[in-house]
Amino acid sequence: MGRVLVVGSYNQDTVLRVPRFPKPGETLAATALEHFHGGKGSNQAVAAARSGAQVRMAACVGRDAAGEAAMALWAAERIDATAVRRDAEVPTGTAVILLDVAGENEIVILAGANARLAPEDARAAATDAALVVAQLETPVEATIAAFLAAREAGGRTLLNAAPAADLPTALLAATDILVVNETEAERLVGRGGTPPELAAALAPRFASGVVLTAGAVGAFWGGRDGAALHLAAPPTEVLDSTGAGDAFVGAMAAALAEGLSMPGALRRGVVAGSLACRRLGAVPSLPGRAEILAAQ
Ligand code: RIB
Ligand code: NA
Repeated sequence: MGRVLVVGSYNQDTVLRVPRFPKPGETLAATALEHFHGGKGSNQAVAAARSGAQVRMAACVGRDAAGEAAMALWAAERIDATAVRRDAEVPTGTAVILLDVAGENEIVILAGANARLAPEDARAAATDAALVVAQLETPVEATIAAFLAAREAGGRTLLNAAPAADLPTALLAATDILVVNETEAERLVGRGGTPPELAAALAPRFASGVVLTAGAVGAFWGGRDGAALHLAAPPTEVLDSTGAGDAFVGAMAAALAEGLSMPGALRRGVVAGSLACRRLGAVPSLPGRAEILAAQ
């Protein structure tokens, strides 16, 4: 079992199913309303735990019902939440997700308590992790503190640079493995390109290298040492792609923490990502270890 610390967000996801996305100024009737656990950090923590890792979460949630629900989720998933802080002054993070009939989504987020995650919430927890994983829904200062502490203690760091944003130099410098989709990669490179080109362009900026996720096409690896890989994703029906990226990152992180090499870890990631497209909601769609291994 590999030890993984996830530094990141929890959101309560409110999903409205729509026949199509509304135009500006348009009012549209939804066909269903559902609530799910979400937030990229928490989703990735659950995905890693279900993939067999021993997971700890560093996060900040409110002292409200949604914060209670988050704590209950982590307890049920056997995720160590001793590095989670409850903040009485702000609400737990919220995401409103429009989901169309093709399984595509549009997401609006209120950061709430996620914006209050502080370096001291994350730093100490990072020292006994084989791998620290973070995203961009919580403050970069907390991530940088955790990454530096992890490295000092001999651990590795993985940044999923989602949702797309500019990355401060200190964060790039503290990241061993970057995971991005094509949009996020183009933003960092400053121009378009094919997935292998984008991965190769970004790879030298990181201690280990870059994973570029390309949905149905699979994932590409560009190593700092010049290595290049493509792992094809198994074909799947797409009911809801929400959480597929998180399933990929969580399963890959668990595999790396367990000692698998990059090709083996990428294979687990693409399989988990495909499986997560088949079910509605982020957390309900995250596959378990047996399911991933059986589908490999
Ligand atoms: O990656 C999916 C997640 O992004 C959703 O659960 C939503 O909360 C947003 O953070
Ligand atoms: Na899903």
